[in-house]
Amino acid sequence: MPSPHIFDSPTAMRVWSLERSRAGQRIAVVPTMGALHRGHEVVIQEARHHADLVVVTIFVNPMQFDRAEDFQSYPRPASEDLDICARHEVDAIYFPTAESMYPVGFDTRVVPGAIAEGFEGAHRPGHFTGVATVVTKLFNAVRPDVAIFGRKDAQQLALISQMVTDLDLGVEIYGVPTVREPDGLAMSSRNRRLSPEARAAATCVPAALNVAIAGLSDSDRPWSEIKSEALALIEAEPLATVEYLDLVDPTTFITREDHRSGHHSLVIAAVWVDGVRLIDNQQVPAQA
Ligand code: PAJ
Repeated sequence: MPSPHIFDSPTAMRVWSLERSRAGQRIAVVPTMGALHRGHEVVIQEARHHADLVVVTIFVNPMQFDRAEDFQSYPRPASEDLDICARHEVDAIYFPTAESMYPVGFDTRVVPGAIAEGFEGAHRPGHFTGVATVVTKLFNAVRPDVAIFGRKDAQQLALISQMVTDLDLGVEIYGVPTVREPDGLAMSSRNRRLSPEARAAATCVPAALNVAIAGLSDSDRPWSEIKSEALALIEAEPLATVEYLDLVDPTTFITREDHRSGHHSLVIAAVWVDGVRLIDNQQVPAQA
């Protein structure tokens, strides 16, 4: 099994990528914050279908954390992550240090627009500016032809697609469906922080989304009624507190009052389960 190249500075990463691009090879990037799980692995496998070379980036980005405690306690199992990348025959890993990403004097931000105002943007001030800034920097270091993201972070995917268009970044963006545990919980690096009781309680999140999707398949029922039913399921779980559960346009993240047939919508939710914040979403099929 060949070991991936590992680069820790933007210059070293870029030199490698530009050489490969000049040789005619197509490069896919999978940006991550490490603590890789099967969800990330599926995104990495998808990348392989889009390019000759796959680069995984691993960087726990301080700029996108709104709570210092969340940043400090974010898992960082570096050697396991490197093993997982090697197992998937990743060609290169960009594993920058905080100093090379944000050297002393760093003073520029990429600030997304309206798409970043609601939901994750409203509840996590500065989060999406941190995401947009770091993803721009990762693209500039890796110079990919294509970048693959998970649909689990649907608002992130929507704003990166918008940013790539608006800033002419010239990177193709693909979204991969959410990978779930057998009981429906969306895989997340944060799931490692759930106690056994909280892990059991966390299934109320996918269950509430499923109730919402089932309710929306009946076009006569108003969203307000379906939403109350889905919220009740989470509220019945003593360890869970809902932050939002809404129906939105998947591209703009503007709230919808009802699902319009012929359009895709998303049901999105953020729920605290015993001190761990989980987000999830489900697509409402256009024909519902
Ligand atoms: P991270 O949370 O590590 O996620 C990296 C990528 O994996 C994202 O595109 C995310 O949507 C995807 N992913 C995570 N869990 C998934 C699941 N269960 N199914 C499918 N895809 C999943 O998202 C970030 O990192 C950061 O914000 C980043 C984009 C790297 C910028 O710092």
